[in-house]
Amino acid sequence: MKRIGVLTSGGDAPGMNACIRAVVRTGISLDMEVFGIKRGYEGLMSGELEQLQSTSVSDIIQRGGTILKTARSEKFMTPGGFEMALNVIKTYRLDGLVIIGGNGSLTGAITLADAGVPVIGLPGTIDNDLPFTDETIGFTTAVNTVLSAISNIRDTSDAHERTTVIEVMGRECGDIAIMAGLTGGAEIILVPEEPLDIDRVCRILLDGKNRGKNSSIIIKAEGVDIASVKLDEVIEERTGLETKVVILGYIQRGGSPIARDRMIASAMGNEAVKLLNDGKKNKAIGIIGDKIAVHDLKRAMQMEKKPLTELHELAYTLSK
Ligand code: F6P
Repeated sequence: MKRIGVLTSGGDAPGMNACIRAVVRTGISLDMEVFGIKRGYEGLMSGELEQLQSTSVSDIIQRGGTILKTARSEKFMTPGGFEMALNVIKTYRLDGLVIIGGNGSLTGAITLADAGVPVIGLPGTIDNDLPFTDETIGFTTAVNTVLSAISNIRDTSDAHERTTVIEVMGRECGDIAIMAGLTGGAEIILVPEEPLDIDRVCRILLDGKNRGKNSSIIIKAEGVDIASVKLDEVIEERTGLETKVVILGYIQRGGSPIARDRMIASAMGNEAVKLLNDGKKNKAIGIIGDKIAVHDLKRAMQMEKKPLTELHELAYTLSK
């Protein structure tokens, strides 16, 4: 009987629980023993493992967060920490690991693969910053959360005839900003992949005003190289338009996953376990178009992440 472990690591993302459920239930259906590892790599080092049964993952498909908890671990990347993790894997006689997380977490997965541990990496992060998949687990739910915030902010922004800068997450990736900005009808979307042109920002706002717009929404990704409050000051100074700032923050990471995230999380979790059961290892699973895509883990992480440039342009065309 194969014994596998599953962990979630890095920032939590809606859909992680749906993914854990898929891993556990697929494993059990294939006669495997599945161990949940607490707090990501921290629990892997300290041996916080618990065997999961089918009922351990009941009633979680709809929940945000992660029942396994999560952490960012610097210690795991030290020789001592890494050695501790390898010992735990040996002690529990794990034949493979499913690692659900973002960039840092999947880089950790490569280190384990290099040390001979069979791993499957799944993209779990709201940021959508992984190059081997069109969507990461949690991204679309986060976009919807931002959208609902935009709708609320639009009302008050319009009532007071203001400009509002809404800062969204994404680290160095502008995908949340672009998707939410496009679908929320933002006038301006600022992303780290493109140079910041404040003159252009001010021009768009003033042109809009001249055409009769009495309020505007700017979606700014957190990775853009200017603090949102500073941007707000500069806009007010140069345009005379009253401007407010909303930093959405962690609200974007929580909440019940929407159908799409539950679906991709379930499909990816299922595929990961089937791969391990078939003796495959060191893979990353993504979604390309509507299909599951299985890549070599290392090569997957070296692929180039394409920015959503066309959608960004579309957002501008439609916001005039
Ligand atoms: O990677 C997910 C993310 O939410 C990023 O968008 C954000 O920059 C970061 O995590 C925040 O991390 P922490 O939870 O460590 O503050």
